[in-house]
Amino acid sequence: MSALGRYIFSAGPVMLPRPVRDRIRDDLVDWRGTGFSVLELSQWDDALLAMFDKVEADLRELLDVPDDYAVLFLHGGASNQFAMVPMNLLCGRRHVDYLHTGLWSGKAVHDARAPSMGEPRLDERAAYLHYTPVETVHGVQFDHVPDSGGTTLVADISSALFSVDLDVRRFGLVYASAQKNLGVVGMTLVIVHRDLIGHADPRTPTTFDYAVHERTRSRFTTPPIFPWYVAGLMLDWVREQGGAAVACAASRRNAELLYAAIDGSGLFTAPVEFGSRASASVPFHLTDTRLTGRFIAEAEAAGLHGLRGHPALGGLRACLYLGMPEAGVQALTGFLKEFEARHG
Ligand SMILES: Cc1ncc(COP(=O)(O)O)c(C=O)c1O
Repeated sequence: MSALGRYIFSAGPVMLPRPVRDRIRDDLVDWRGTGFSVLELSQWDDALLAMFDKVEADLRELLDVPDDYAVLFLHGGASNQFAMVPMNLLCGRRHVDYLHTGLWSGKAVHDARAPSMGEPRLDERAAYLHYTPVETVHGVQFDHVPDSGGTTLVADISSALFSVDLDVRRFGLVYASAQKNLGVVGMTLVIVHRDLIGHADPRTPTTFDYAVHERTRSRFTTPPIFPWYVAGLMLDWVREQGGAAVACAASRRNAELLYAAIDGSGLFTAPVEFGSRASASVPFHLTDTRLTGRFIAEAEAAGLHGLRGHPALGGLRACLYLGMPEAGVQALTGFLKEFEARHG
């Protein structure tokens, strides 16, 4: 068990790495010896401005983001980008392609009013191709970057950030909500090639135009100071662990550990086929579904929280983001064995 003695396997907000959590606790009282909480400082405070710059620089370094991409720290959820992407990237065109592989890409399809498709048949008139490398609810993950045939590629990397190695240069735009691998809720990271900025539909409200956020360095509106600050702590932590590739490998290892326990069991089963299994999200269920409620109650009593599956799918799910230590996964696999011994 961790020093916390408990683990949370939910899909976001998620467990923070312990050092990040402790640092936040201290900074809530006194940020860098200022005598003020990080929550009390103005966005124009020099130290905060320097902190914003450092977070961007760290992110660029860790994800190897070239200068011809803007890095934006925007208010709100990844869901906002389901609408902002078409507002900004359609550039007068009427066609877009969306790969519909699960619940979240389905929501992006809905907001863009694009037809969904089964087999990818790309439209050469499309302004961009949008896909979701890791579908959090269904626990499926692309093992490759789809070939967009030269069309701008856009990805919702909310669950892929620091769980899948992705080369930003292959994308026109990626976005990720912060409450998974970038800290806490209230902010979405957008990394967008500068050539794609400045062509928003003229009806686009000011606050939804990427050009406005690029020009104001994400401070058109009072920025999401707290999640931006926590993102900085998360990036420091990722660097201390050895960088993005090491974080992705740790995530993969944790998922393999858990999948091995599920696959080796007679009582638990995983619906996702081998080649499509996500590292960040592992859906599973009991072969005897009548035991689901009991499993969740007993798991919680054992300190293992957030294992109830997404309401759209039911069953069980364990999300494994950066803050989940291997010890947490071992506690879960140990519990699966124990539960099977009692109820199998
Ligand atoms: C892949 C993916 N996209 C989008 C979202 C929605 O994010 P938000 O709640 O920040 O709008 C989620 C939330 O879990 C997600 O997993």
